[in-house]
Amino acid sequence: MKIAVLPGDGIGPEIVAQAVRVLERLKADGLDIEMEQAPIGGAGYDAYGDPLPDSTLKLAREADAVLLGAVGGPKYDTLDRPLRPERGLLRIRKELNLFGNLRPAILYPELAGASTLKPEVVSGLDIMIVRELTGDIYFGQPRGIRTNDKGEREGFNTMLYSESEIRRIGHVAFRIAQKRNKKLCSVDKANVLECTEFWKEVMTDIAKEYPDVELSHMYVDNAAMQLVRAPKQFDVIVTGNIFGDILSDEASMLTGSIGMLPSASLDENNKGLYEPCHGSAPDIAGKNIANPLATILSAAMMLRYTFNRETEAQRIETAVKKVLAQGYRTADIFEAGTEKVSTVGMGDAVLAAM
Ligand code: IPM
Ligand code: MG
Repeated sequence: MKIAVLPGDGIGPEIVAQAVRVLERLKADGLDIEMEQAPIGGAGYDAYGDPLPDSTLKLAREADAVLLGAVGGPKYDTLDRPLRPERGLLRIRKELNLFGNLRPAILYPELAGASTLKPEVVSGLDIMIVRELTGDIYFGQPRGIRTNDKGEREGFNTMLYSESEIRRIGHVAFRIAQKRNKKLCSVDKANVLECTEFWKEVMTDIAKEYPDVELSHMYVDNAAMQLVRAPKQFDVIVTGNIFGDILSDEASMLTGSIGMLPSASLDENNKGLYEPCHGSAPDIAGKNIANPLATILSAAMMLRYTFNRETEAQRIETAVKKVLAQGYRTADIFEAGTEKVSTVGMGDAVLAAM
């Protein structure tokens, strides 16, 4: 199992270090794991003048899976667009064809009080958001900032999905729904945007191949509202890149903290990039207070989806549940009556629970 480890920026190196310790532990117990690190994002720019250095992309291509921390930071915000850390992340997703982004939002019972929503609204929550990751307005051409013929500056992007792009993410989502509660909600803005009207039409067509799955459709504005009103109505949500970006951040807060949410980004052959849903949190970087659980849970997803190692995946997930039950909390999920631990302290607790 060759894993490329790309810590990135901000809290990235701190949280990835804890997930690496977990993987080292599995290696010590007999798994054939090989890990190699490389810079991405701002770290890539600092080392090679490129947010996705060639050597990093090569390592990621040769690996079976990629473990990534987070990218970005204020010091890079004034760089030319192609040099910014976020472009490195978007490029590696595109170069590796990682179109299927799985973002589970699960509420651990111990964290019901950490959610800003009432416990009865979120208890038992278990949603899977399937976000298309290599298309949409994030990649559509043309794009840019220009001066129009009236001499005024304007910014523009293109929302675009081909039928094959919609079909392949649709199949991923239907297959996941089949393994869960067989309810799939496709989120669009078909009342305004042709691109997503087409999305809805294609999803409806694919549904014929999955008679056991109940497909529904929802406008994205309504979905944003329903997620905080009655989130347990959802089982699997499938949506495009930008809506999925926004709704997955929203869903993460239902679970108490975005610091808890892992993700998997998969290609057609289940090669994957695994990263927490949260960003690089520059404001708390280097303080040893960030929550490493989303990254540790991302390593569990890696074992499940790329390496087909369900037992080891569950070993990690069970350890995380155990440390939460034991009362260990990083600052983002801390409540009175629990024990506050650092990033490394949380890593220690997970290792002990394993
Ligand atoms: C995410 C992030 C990225 C995205 C950024 C950092 C480019 O918000 O993974 O959700 O928009 O996809
Ligand atoms: Mg996002």
